[in-house]
Amino acid sequence: MGKKEKISTNNKAEEREEETLRDGIKMDETVKKASFWDRILLNRMIRAATGIIFFGVVVPVLVYIFLLSTAIPYSGRSCAVYEEYRTECLPGRSPSPNQCIDAGCCWNATHTPHCYHSLPSYYSYRRADLSQGPNVTLEPLARHSSMGTRTHSLILNMNPMSKDHLTILLFDKKRYEGNIPNTGIDIHETAFQVKLFGGLDGSPPFAVDVIANGETLFSTSLGPLVASDQYWEITLKLPTTNVYGWGGAGVEGNEPPTLKLPTGPLPQWAGGGRRLAHPFLICLNENGTAHGIFFKAAGPLEIELKPSGLLALRAVINIWLEIHILAGPTPADVTRQLCEAVGYPQLPPYWALGLHVCRRDSSDAKTFFETADNAGLPFDSDCLGLRALGERAFEVQHDLLPAVKELKDALSQKGRKFLHVQFPQVEKWSYPPYQDGVAKDIFVRYGGLGYYFGTYNDRSVAYPSLLQPKTQDWFLGVLKELQKEIGPIEAIAIEDDSPLSNGTYGSNPNPKDDLPFIPRGLKNSISQGTLFWMTQHSDTVLHYTMHNNYGYLFTENLHKALHAITPPVEGRTPRKLILGEWTQPGTGLFGGHGGAVRVYRTWTTMRSAFVSALTNGLVGIPLSAGVAACGRLHTVEESKAYKSLPFDSSLCRRWIRLGAVLPLWRVFLPPGNVTKGAMASLVSAASFRYQILPYIYTQMYHASMTGMPVVRHLFFEYPEMKLARDADDQVLLGPALMVTPSFIPDAPTVSVFLPNGTWYSHPGGEIRPEVGRIVKFVLRRDEMPMFMRGGYIIPMQDYYQNAGSSRILPYSLTVALDCDRTSSSSCAEGELFVDDGETEETVTRKEYELVKFVSPKENSVEITRVNSWLGCNDPKFSTVLDSITIYGANNTDGPGEITIDGKPSKGTVMYNSWGMVKISGIGVDWCNLPVGGNAMTISWT
Ligand SMILES: *[C@@H]1O[C@H](CO)[C@@H](O)[C@H](O)[C@H]1NC(C)=O
Ligand SMILES: *[C@@H]1O[C@H](CO)[C@@H](O)[C@H](O)[C@H]1NC(C)=O
Ligand SMILES: *[C@@H]1O[C@H](CO)[C@@H](O)[C@H](O)[C@H]1NC(C)=O
Ligand SMILES: *[C@@H]1O[C@H](CO)[C@@H](O)[C@H](O)[C@H]1NC(C)=O
Ligand SMILES: *[C@@H]1O[C@H](CO)[C@@H](O)[C@H](O)[C@H]1NC(C)=O
Repeated sequence: MGKKEKISTNNKAEEREEETLRDGIKMDETVKKASFWDRILLNRMIRAATGIIFFGVVVPVLVYIFLLSTAIPYSGRSCAVYEEYRTECLPGRSPSPNQCIDAGCCWNATHTPHCYHSLPSYYSYRRADLSQGPNVTLEPLARHSSMGTRTHSLILNMNPMSKDHLTILLFDKKRYEGNIPNTGIDIHETAFQVKLFGGLDGSPPFAVDVIANGETLFSTSLGPLVASDQYWEITLKLPTTNVYGWGGAGVEGNEPPTLKLPTGPLPQWAGGGRRLAHPFLICLNENGTAHGIFFKAAGPLEIELKPSGLLALRAVINIWLEIHILAGPTPADVTRQLCEAVGYPQLPPYWALGLHVCRRDSSDAKTFFETADNAGLPFDSDCLGLRALGERAFEVQHDLLPAVKELKDALSQKGRKFLHVQFPQVEKWSYPPYQDGVAKDIFVRYGGLGYYFGTYNDRSVAYPSLLQPKTQDWFLGVLKELQKEIGPIEAIAIEDDSPLSNGTYGSNPNPKDDLPFIPRGLKNSISQGTLFWMTQHSDTVLHYTMHNNYGYLFTENLHKALHAITPPVEGRTPRKLILGEWTQPGTGLFGGHGGAVRVYRTWTTMRSAFVSALTNGLVGIPLSAGVAACGRLHTVEESKAYKSLPFDSSLCRRWIRLGAVLPLWRVFLPPGNVTKGAMASLVSAASFRYQILPYIYTQMYHASMTGMPVVRHLFFEYPEMKLARDADDQVLLGPALMVTPSFIPDAPTVSVFLPNGTWYSHPGGEIRPEVGRIVKFVLRRDEMPMFMRGGYIIPMQDYYQNAGSSRILPYSLTVALDCDRTSSSSCAEGELFVDDGETEETVTRKEYELVKFVSPKENSVEITRVNSWLGCNDPKFSTVLDSITIYGANNTDGPGEITIDGKPSKGTVMYNSWGMVKISGIGVDWCNLPVGGNAMTISWT
């Protein structure tokens, strides 16, 4: 964003430019220039293969030399380089040998014939000056790309954004109208070193290496560089194939969903390919050092990771590509560096961490409220029905209003919220949001044809353009109307903001995308399922250049408007909950990820949802469930066609349980009454969830300060362990709890990797002897084994009806001992963060409570106050610690005496044989404890 592109796809002016170097030179001449190149290449191969002494280095080098000296493919150009270092030429096409060779590529005629780039590629650049930056002028060696599109001269601009964040911006000087970053930071003051290669005559061609912490983070020398009309390509040699991110798995994708990148082309196009458009990667070395790469580009992308660590990026873009490199060196540093660039996530309202239910329509809502209360199920919001207020976006149908008002009142009486469901598709119909949009002229257009109308729920719909300032007025208008009818809006979940258009191309007369390249996995079209790619958001911006940002911008606009119409209360801005569906890095600033819609009830989608929650966490959107449990079936016919499982099935029970340990917990209820069995699952999952809300909220606070995801892949804590890097189906909730869901239908066991350290079954507290390896745990019905990590203390709380009302209840601690840790002199530590959970900027105003718990030895816990905000006897918040559960105690017997700061105290101590000790009824209140003063010590014998 902040960058504009002129709409000019074939630039006539450039046709008249001087002929570029390479055209006209016979291909075999280039081989003579290759000797310098070969040295670089060999060097790199050796480096790439460090550690694999014979088969990894010597054999490939010999093979390479053998191929160079004997196998002469079509021209003597270096077509015969080692197979691993080849990237595909003419991606997405199936050329004949001649077409391949005519396109300047190499042909391999084996049983799986393929067309690949020579090395150096025919599609390279030469340096037009030998300056060492920040600006380097580059001229293409070939006038057209392999895809037949016209190539452009480029400027490469390098700019450190901070000492561990570098940007490399490649742009077409003639057409680029965006900013050129210039922070004035000298690269020598940063973690980075940049090496530029290439001669003025193109031998060797231009390449850039980025180095940090003594390691080459990437090099562009092993592939082509193409910058042309609607087709760009760049290959980065990464030091590793442990690469994670790129939006994770698709929800209905064919690939087995993982956070770790599989090989093969992976598209990035909101909605298409069912993969979130998060153009971000974390790369992890064997020794656990990490770095990040964040691509910014205005168009659909595709990456392909080869087993050699080559990462080819292909993009349907025209003018610029920005690569942000984050130096790490730990995975946590990388996420922090990303959040520094895109924004740290906001702290959600406290109630956002409770249970959110939703359903197709409101007819069963009332019964649900009753059964939930009878069963003791706490929950925090209900959407009351996907179209509770009307069929159309931002509409209130007056005949629906009385019923909704009644239900809304029933919710608010119990301190619960109404979660509005909204979507960007504005029906072409005489109702205020559409008429107002026409009056303000904010809808996306299609050339001279006026507004572009797509199809949504079989209706003709227009789409708000989000790039015009007047759209914000429109948002204000529609939200004010909504608020007038229904009262204050506290939460909105946005759906279908890819934005979805059902039907091939809506009313667009053009039957197909006329593009040289379409990322694989998108069914050969980037207009399918969304706006036609050439529709216009403004005079200068075509849809495809901002498609991946639409959901982000919609969330941002709604966030702004909702705040603008909400008056401050006693000088405090109320927090709102906004959930988007197609998030981008940075969405965390405005809210969370509500999850995909139209998700079937299958084991694969549960796993995809889980991976989506992880990928959101990677890019600073900790508040995500991936998808509401237990998927959403659209119609009875659909669910029959899909042979989907009932809500009261082991799939749903497991999904509900999994949802309860993800930062956002949504459940999509089926029509009719919730059965007793399903309700029992919900209650049991909720009981666990609501008790750990203080712990989850404390993790949310840390996420808002550091970007650290709340639910995180094991590599965040154990990056140096291969088994942890590969453990795709288990995660940590905060640093202390490990969750191991099963995604295999009715599997009797689940495989769990227990990293080195001390682990306890949780709850239960038995110490696990099996650390450092993968263990099979038997799964009883509905179960999801959980483990607590030694060295940590988690704060918990009793619960009542909803998250907010539970905050007055006393706290308890679970202490998992590990007195042998080298990293600390204590046996366990933990924290509790408390603020009002309702207004913004509590941290900057210092209106929060931060308490630290330390267990210096196995029979005591110390409380210190890091920041105080709560007084004694607060009507809404507790400062009382009533019970402590210890895992891993050696002493399993004693007189059962408790002292507080040396004085005898009330309460009981219970020892059991496997090292669990339970102290209860102590009622310790820390409300008078001075900040930074002495600790309050609770000891027992
Ligand atoms: C052609 O491709 C096959 C299969 O990938 C590979 O084994 C072989 O080495 C390649 N041949 C040449 C000459 O590159
Ligand atoms: C780099 O190029 C940009 C655009 O041409 C220019 O604005 C900037 O001043 C240049 N920086 C330096 C240090 O030459
Ligand atoms: C980790 O490994 C990378 C590449 O293998 C190396 O460059 C780096 O120096 C190592 N870092 C440490 C701290 O060992
Ligand atoms: C999409 O179109 C199909 C066929 O017309 C229809 O069955 C389906 O309900 C539509 N879905 C949406 C979300 O509009
Ligand atoms: C659902 O429960 C309510 C009240 O418990 C009852 O009146 C209603 O008949 C039930 N509906 C169905 C479809 O079982």
